[in-house]
Amino acid sequence: MSSAAEKPKVDAASRAFSRFGLSGRTALVTGATRGIGKAIVEELAGLGADVYVCARSAEDLEARLAEWRTAGLAVRGSVCDVSERQQRLQLAERVAAEFGGKLHILVNNVGTNIRKPTVEYTEEEFSFMMRTNVESAYHLCQACQPLLAASGDGCIVFNTSVAGGPTAMRSGTLYAMSKAALNQLTKNLACEWAGAGIRVNSVAPWYTATDLALQVLQNESFKAEVLSRTPLKRIAQPEEVAGTVAYLCSPAAAYVTGQIIQVDGGYSVMGLY
Ligand SMILES: NC(=O)c1ccc[n+]([C@@H]2O[C@H](COP(=O)([O-])OP(=O)(O)OC[C@H]3O[C@@H](n4cnc5c(N)ncnc54)[C@H](OP(=O)(O)O)[C@@H]3O)[C@@H](O)[C@H]2O)c1
Repeated sequence: MSSAAEKPKVDAASRAFSRFGLSGRTALVTGATRGIGKAIVEELAGLGADVYVCARSAEDLEARLAEWRTAGLAVRGSVCDVSERQQRLQLAERVAAEFGGKLHILVNNVGTNIRKPTVEYTEEEFSFMMRTNVESAYHLCQACQPLLAASGDGCIVFNTSVAGGPTAMRSGTLYAMSKAALNQLTKNLACEWAGAGIRVNSVAPWYTATDLALQVLQNESFKAEVLSRTPLKRIAQPEEVAGTVAYLCSPAAAYVTGQIIQVDGGYSVMGLY
């Protein structure tokens, strides 16, 4: 092949690289010191984004920030319990100050679960689950909307769950309700904020190897049941969810909004197969 014929290949490669890359973009990822959040930070920063993170444990946060600095990743952050309104407002203010009043990417990753029969949930547990899983994400979207709009190319990704989808899956009623709420929030904001240049999507993972899921996956018979309903016959790794989040944040997904992408090894389409 002549060198003239090879040149367009290089151009195509660099065009593709920039479509999937995130350099020049700023991001806020909540719940970032472990599990899926940590993998999302590493994926976004690895693709060139300047990332701000938060978690509740100062010790874990300092340890992760030091690791990321050593790895040459542009990550900074502060302690924030996103279930607390005042702390969310402070977080949004810090991000505005760090990134000059603009933010390209908001990943609402924090979520937790209390598993028990529905009749046993207390009023406090209901409130805790809704504050942590729903209100935190909803309010951070509100607080960051002006920053996302100011970037001219804003993007929100929620980390929901297959538990918020069309089938009941024994994950706990409050968890399922909270994730279903995020799914609907995805669609409403996608339409309402499209005019402000903000895309809004969700990833809906199935069982993923993190501390949150390992609590139940340590039960071997439960794990076998999960695998029997998973066409790919394995639990997801956090990086596999993070890759989908990064795609949704990238220029390659510029025409994708209002979508809930199942990252589930085929669970949601298996039926009686
Ligand atoms: N793992 C799965 O199988 C699975 C499946 C479907 C969906 N998901 C969703 O994926 C998301 C991440 O789950 P994960 O499994 O990675 O969880 P994880 O292993 O428990 O990690 C949670 C992360 O969030 C932080 N965090 C928790 N509560 C917080 C709060 N109130 N404010 C700030 N940070 C907080 C934790 O640090 P601190 O404790 O220091 O705050 C930690 O960094 C959740 O929304 C979950 O519902 C997970």
